[in-house]
Amino acid sequence: MEKIFNEAKALIEGAGSPEAVEELRIKYLGKKGEVTALLKSMGTIAPEERKAFGMQVNKLKQDVEALIETKKSSLAGEGRQARLAAEKIDVTEPGRAHSPGTRHMITITIDEICAIFQNLGYSITEGPEVETVFNNFDALNSAPNHPSRDMTDTFYITENTLLRCHTSPVQVRILLEQEPPIKVLSPGRCFRVDTPDATHSPMFHQVEGLLVDEDVTMADLKGTLDLFAKRMFGDKVKTKFRPHFFPFTEPSAEMDVSCFLCDGSDKSCRVCHGSGWIELLGCGMVHPNVLKIGGLDTDRYTGLAFGMGVERTAMLKHGIDDIRLFYENDVRFIGQFY
Ligand code: PHE
Repeated sequence: MEKIFNEAKALIEGAGSPEAVEELRIKYLGKKGEVTALLKSMGTIAPEERKAFGMQVNKLKQDVEALIETKKSSLAGEGRQARLAAEKIDVTEPGRAHSPGTRHMITITIDEICAIFQNLGYSITEGPEVETVFNNFDALNSAPNHPSRDMTDTFYITENTLLRCHTSPVQVRILLEQEPPIKVLSPGRCFRVDTPDATHSPMFHQVEGLLVDEDVTMADLKGTLDLFAKRMFGDKVKTKFRPHFFPFTEPSAEMDVSCFLCDGSDKSCRVCHGSGWIELLGCGMVHPNVLKIGGLDTDRYTGLAFGMGVERTAMLKHGIDDIRLFYENDVRFIGQFY
């Protein structure tokens, strides 16, 4: 019995896992276990020795059971220790900062332009990027042979649909849907067949403006856009209107703003190149043929319209010299503006 106990003690204490302990329990205390065999052998012991033998075997059994229990709980304790160690949380560790992200420069600029015109009572609406040839060209009074209709300038989807090459088709949609007084601004994406370089991108953004009412004059157009330029680039900028041509406005003009960086004093200015003026947007009085699309009486109603490039405006305002930076989405660039 002593030999069995010593062997059991060594094996149980050396066991490395609960499974190994269980195997040893079976080896000693199971149905065919060594201690159980001794208990079963009681009958073969001489009657006068049986009592003492029984007490010894029972003690052996209890001792082995105690060894097993002790080992089991110590193994469980080790498991718990290991789990606690693995789950340990360092409550003193400094927090990790999460960057909330920033609005994209294009979004910021569109929001800025919209806010200026919303303060003048314009509402915001959006038109689809896939347009009909009718809305993009015909309804805007563009001649059937106008060069911008060419496949080499405009992305056609079918014979009658295309990716709009400006936001002006929204003018048509609004005139077909709304009655004067009309006062809307419409930002959105436009597409033109262009090889990307520092100033060209086949996809870019414009903001379109349209105001139609009684007694709208060129003075309203100039006053509105002059105010916009001052709010966008600073109170000191001056504006000038150069005659231009658009099929859907008459008269048409391009508006320049005085250089807000050098005011014409720096011959090597990176913004105006010394001319003192920066070309900013196209505008004009809505052509009567366009007003007629909306069924309007052109003796009673007149309108003003304008369209500006968002990328161009942002580049001028923030001294960005390559349009491609807007689309490469390098966070080192994007994260500078918010
Ligand atoms: N759609 C013109 C362009 O893309 C801009 C414009 C809009 C001009 C409205 C006049 C009136 O260049």
